[in-house]
Amino acid sequence: MKITVIGTGYVGLVSGTCFAEMGNKVTCIDVDTNKIQKLEEGIIPIYEPGLEVMVKRNYERNTLKFSTKLSENLGGCDIAFIAVGTPMGDDGSADLKYVLQVAKEIGQNMTTPLIVVDKSTVPVGTADKVRAQIKEELDKRGVDIHFDVVSNPEFLKEGDAISDFMKPDRVVIGADSDETAEIMRTLYSPFFRSGSARLIVMDVRSAEMTKYVANAMLATKISFMNEISNICELVGADVNDVRIGIGSDSRIGYSFIYPGAGYGGSCFPKDVKALHRTAKEYGFDAELIGSVESVNDKQKLVIAKKVVKRFGEDLSGKTFAIWGLSFKPDTDDMREAPAIYIIKDLVSRGAKIKAYDPKAMHEAQECYLKGVQNITYCNSKYEAIVDADAMLLLTDWKEFRIPDFEELKAQLKTPIVFDGRNQYNDKMMQEQGFEYFQIGKQP
Ligand code: UGA
Repeated sequence: MKITVIGTGYVGLVSGTCFAEMGNKVTCIDVDTNKIQKLEEGIIPIYEPGLEVMVKRNYERNTLKFSTKLSENLGGCDIAFIAVGTPMGDDGSADLKYVLQVAKEIGQNMTTPLIVVDKSTVPVGTADKVRAQIKEELDKRGVDIHFDVVSNPEFLKEGDAISDFMKPDRVVIGADSDETAEIMRTLYSPFFRSGSARLIVMDVRSAEMTKYVANAMLATKISFMNEISNICELVGADVNDVRIGIGSDSRIGYSFIYPGAGYGGSCFPKDVKALHRTAKEYGFDAELIGSVESVNDKQKLVIAKKVVKRFGEDLSGKTFAIWGLSFKPDTDDMREAPAIYIIKDLVSRGAKIKAYDPKAMHEAQECYLKGVQNITYCNSKYEAIVDADAMLLLTDWKEFRIPDFEELKAQLKTPIVFDGRNQYNDKMMQEQGFEYFQIGKQP
């Protein structure tokens, strides 16, 4: 099939590349000339394992092209995916200006029948708005070209994006006509050969809703466990055991019940807020969803609070080593990362920070911690701990899992570890002479 993907951000680039890998002819469009030029040179704007190789391979065999011109890439195209950003508006709702601008351009430029797919995470009702916008432009041109609008939300995780896309658990298609659903089924059928994945077809609004509900459910599991971890600490229980105890019930399951320093990223915080906002627009106060967000906001400061409890409110003269800045491992993404909030809190109390992250240091320096004083960025995890009063582990990167504990103890001024991801065995830490603070268990 001939496919155009509009928006070469995370979702757009991964989807376009994976469709190309299956032999489709894909053009990825972006308004950012610099980004498109770099992609043509094989320079990938994001860090995602496996993506660079796949982009290069498909670019070389002409299944993947990049362009800044939507107008030149719609004629003869079977499917156009809208994968532009939906940033959070001031009121927490998803801002649709980019999506609707693309719909307008599609209406202005399409010359042959087309399936338009909303791939961006968009609120319920967006497909109708996209349809109306395209129709308006076609009417202005006085032409009648057949088109259909489909919702096909994306469920990939950063860091696992390629395997999530190539071997999906499920693909959700919201289509209002059988004919269109069938074309979408054909497009996705190669992705289903290897596993037990399911292609689930439903109406457009239900598909739009499914995306928000999936993320809100996962965020709810995390906030629930974070709240439980705080109770565990108070009553003298160990959340690590409680987690295993409940996860063994197959109705609950083990996944996404790891307590930690709070969830971050571009999806959960934004989508939970947007769902809450949508409910409000319809006159409903979604209390549980609102609490998922407020519990998470508080959780992001739990580690900072433990530091203050141990070292006092005034942290001047103290230095803390930070292991991990990104919101989760295997990504350079720092959006809504707990590290931002923890570091700013500690610095505001006079502390100095020595930070290390395998991938996200550039993001931190250039954007998320730009202008924050008293941070030194280090070249390795061991450099960060030299003469620090304590180490704070904030992202569960694999390289932090089994560090050289002797070295850790030798380099820290005092052998104190605050673990925001419960990576170590507390008995072992105590035996090695560490003061070890984790989430959901008293030291
Ligand atoms: C999330 C969803 O998992 C994807 O299915 C979805 O497609 C994506 O959002 C999206 O909407 O685009 P992502 O934000 O990449 O993916 O990251 P996750 O792996 O889900 O992690 C989110 C946050 O939850 C991280 O900060 C992680 O540390 C935290 N987390 C996760 C926990 O604190 N505990 C857990 O048990 C699991």
